[in-house]
Amino acid sequence: MFSLYDLFKKLAFAMDAENAHTKALHFLHHYPEIAKFVFHSNEDFSDARMALTVGKVNWKFPVGLAAGLDKNGEAFDFFSSLPFGALEVGTVTPRPQPGNERPRLFRYPEEESLRNCMGFNNHGSDELYRALENFSRRQTPIGVNLGKNKDTPAHKAPEDYRILFEKFKGIADYLVVNVSSPNTPGLRDLQKASELKEIFSEIQRVRTNVKTPLYLKISPDMSPADLPAVIDVAKEYSLDALIATNTTIMPERGAGGVSGRALYEKAKSMRTHCLAALSETPEIDFIGVGGFSSFEQLWDYWKEGGRGIQLYTSFIFQGPEVLYSIYRNIDAKMKEYKVHSINDLMAIAREDK
Ligand SMILES: Cc1cc2nc3c(=O)[nH]c(=O)nc-3n(C[C@H](O)[C@H](O)[C@H](O)COP(=O)(O)O)c2cc1C
Repeated sequence: MFSLYDLFKKLAFAMDAENAHTKALHFLHHYPEIAKFVFHSNEDFSDARMALTVGKVNWKFPVGLAAGLDKNGEAFDFFSSLPFGALEVGTVTPRPQPGNERPRLFRYPEEESLRNCMGFNNHGSDELYRALENFSRRQTPIGVNLGKNKDTPAHKAPEDYRILFEKFKGIADYLVVNVSSPNTPGLRDLQKASELKEIFSEIQRVRTNVKTPLYLKISPDMSPADLPAVIDVAKEYSLDALIATNTTIMPERGAGGVSGRALYEKAKSMRTHCLAALSETPEIDFIGVGGFSSFEQLWDYWKEGGRGIQLYTSFIFQGPEVLYSIYRNIDAKMKEYKVHSINDLMAIAREDK
């Protein structure tokens, strides 16, 4: 059946991708109630059985919103009305910055993928802080994804992360150090263990007695051989979770990072390496992201020992239906196996080899 979302998508996809994105966020920001009418299903998705703890945060559903869709926290009201387990906003940088030249967002509709070279365009940390302060109806946990300004030299990057950590530690439900975007020159060099140590030891100066969970988000293009050193840093600085992955470079398509179905296999391979490397480290949780678009993929990920996931690109192509359909499938599996919690269902998936 042709839904209101299909109509909305038809209009949006007739526009340039970034224009559509900006206009959609404007609509969600100014008219959340109309947006809810357009996007909501009349089913009720508030369901205590779907809750789980991810990275020491209580999610209400195993699927969260990945960073970059609502960089400035403009549409909290709308997104928290959907059955997302958690919302990640940002990447935010200490100071506002315009990002890279346009065009910088491209669609591949036939394979439900995107390529972006946005370059951390955002309104800066003061504005995001105000948006968080002004949003009083927090039904869904909100994480803030942190990045350095483009004009901050590499040796000063740790300072940018420390400034952001200190600013958001009291207002966010979790914080993420992002060193994995391909669109800020030199950023991914910060994934080296020595550079990560500089960042986390600088953050550590303002982290004593802070309970806000701290995560690290990594790239699918990192060599798996470098992973053990990264996990050692995560252990040394008591990080609460690793997020994998960010977008992948595909230079044959042009600059920037690719997300969606075209990323799935590469991200999956990195996730498998991460889950294996973290199997003896239960204190560091893991959040899978990159190409997820269906319940079958979530089940596959649970079979491998994964738990919570995030998505972005499939939401652009499928709208909230991607969440609704995952919900219905989880519900059906719970009934099939007569279990009443996500933890029990994940245990069944792990046995389903
Ligand atoms: C247009 C766009 C902008 C993004 N911006 C950010 C960002 O600012 N920070 C970040 O950590 N990830 C960003 N991402 C990456 C996503 O959070 C996610 O890691 C990636 O898209 C893979 O997930 P997906 O295939 O479900 O989209 C962005 C992705 C897209 C498509």
